[in-house]
Formats: sequence, structure tokens, C-alpha cells
Amino acid sequence: MSVAADKIRNRQRIIWDKFAAGWKKWDAELLDWQRPFGAAVIQGAGLRLDSTVLDVASGTGEPGLTAAALVPGGGVELTDISAGMLQVAQEKASTLGMGNVRFRVCDAAELPFDDGTFDAVLCCFGLMFFPDMRAALREMVRTAKPGARISAAVWGRAAANPWASLVLGTLAQHTELPAPPADMPGLFRCSAPGFMTRLFRGVGLLAVQERTVSTDLVHDSPASYWEFMTDIATTVATGLALADEEARSLIRSDVFQMLGRYEHGGLLRLRSTATIVTGIRA
Ligand SMILES: C[S@@+](CC[C@H](N)C(=O)[O-])C[C@H]1O[C@@H](n2cnc3c(N)ncnc32)[C@H](O)[C@@H]1O
Repeated sequence: MSVAADKIRNRQRIIWDKFAAGWKKWDAELLDWQRPFGAAVIQGAGLRLDSTVLDVASGTGEPGLTAAALVPGGGVELTDISAGMLQVAQEKASTLGMGNVRFRVCDAAELPFDDGTFDAVLCCFGLMFFPDMRAALREMVRTAKPGARISAAVWGRAAANPWASLVLGTLAQHTELPAPPADMPGLFRCSAPGFMTRLFRGVGLLAVQERTVSTDLVHDSPASYWEFMTDIATTVATGLALADEEARSLIRSDVFQMLGRYEHGGLLRLRSTATIVTGIRA
């Protein structure tokens, strides 16, 4: 792995360890919001009751924990670079008394599993954060059995994701921060139409299919939305941390004002849209 890739990977580990507490705090809301995306990824994986499943970048446990309930005769390996995030997943599994799950802290580009181990591989909102997405995808292919499905979710275009672009756009207006280069971690790094299909085909996956799934992020007040975003959205929170005090306060008040246009029936509803991509290992 190159020095630059190693630096990105370590930075991601540190950031996500720091945000694990926020993900734990908002676990119920995150589960509610992201359920349709996890369901689409699982649907694309073609699980059987006895499937052995790998979940890459499981974070606090999804979609791995949901998948585990669907494979009572098999099991799920949940993996992530952040021990802090995975610890939350482990606590949830033990509260639920789940017996068919295991946890491994590891980099997506260096999976500690033998060739051809898994019947299905899942990866929900992880790829955009990997320094070398192709290397990680090659590892998913290597550890999958011939005929296994690989199924992933990434964020769609910024315009279809006001839940994040509202704050990120306002942040860009108030600061001199340059947009991240295309090969650096970022929420919309994989969002160009056809990008994921090319990536999946590029590592030899067959019958690659891409589709779009949308749902709303719902909050009952601007204050709740702001607290949620600064607790869980690493890209937003790290951007805000680079702005000075005055800019931060301006960004917050601009965002609160713009949230008015997302109010429907007393609730804030911000669209969120993912690309779900699946492929079959040759
Ligand atoms: C947005 S969270 C997604 C968590 C979960 N899959 C979900 O959908 O709720 C992104 C996760 O990617 C993990 N991650 C970032 N870089 C990674 C890497 N190089 N290898 C494995 N996991 C990584 C982070 O630690 C974080 O838990």
C-alpha cells in the first residue's frame, strides 16, 4: 500500500473511532433512516438460509446484523477499520443474543479471509471512504465464492442528497476550502452515473446492475437535524472543524433558515438517494 493510501486509511480509522459515540447515540434514528438502503443491498445479495456472508465497513453493524437474522443456518463476518464503530456493533449483537455473527477489525483492502470463503459480500456506504476502492473490491471478489453476489450502496449525486449537500454547500460558500480531489474520500465520490458499474466490471464482476433508492431523513426541528449531522456525518463535522468560529455560526444560521423549504406537515424531510450496485463473481 502506498504512503498516501496508508495515511488516508489511518485518518479514516481515527475519524470513525471518534464518531462511534455519535453513531451509538443516534442508532435508532440511523436504523430507521437507512433501512431501505440496507434492504436493497441485502436483496441484491441473494441470501439463502445457510449463506456465509461478509459485511465490509459494517460500522455499527449494518447491513450485517440485519443479514444475520436472514441466514440462521449460516453466519455473517462483520468487518471495519474502526474498532470503535465495530465495538458498538458487537454490543448490539450481544444485546440481541445473536449467535451467528463474528467481528474483525481490518482494512477493506486487506481482508483476513481465504479465497472463495463467502456466498455473498455486502458493503453499505463504505467504498467512498477507501483510499483504493479498486483494491478493496478486488479483495471482496477474492474472498467471494464463484457465483457469489457482491452488493454495495454508495451515495448518489449531491443534488439528490440535500440531507448532506445542504450543509456541505453552505460550508463551501462560507470557507475557502477546496473541493476534495476525486480520488480522496468524500460522500459523492462514487456518485457519477455509471461510475459503480465501471468499477464493478473493472474487477471482473458479471451481470452488474445499478439502481437508485431514495428515502427521507426526517427530523422534528432544525436543532435536532444539526445535532445529528454534527454527531454522525464525518465529512460535515470535519469540514466545520476547519472553519473559524464566526463562519461556523453563519453556516449554522444559514442552514437553519434554508431548512424551512424542507418542512412538510411540521417535520423536516430531506431527500437521501443511494446507488445500489450488484455483481456476480465469475
Ligand atoms: C458511513 S459508515 C457505514 C457503516 C455501515 N455500513 C452503515 O451503513 O451504517 C463508513 C464505515 O467505513 C469504515 N471504513 C473507512 N475506511 C475503511 C477501510 N479502509 N476499511 C474498512 N472500513 C473502513 C468506517 O470506519 C465506517 O465505519
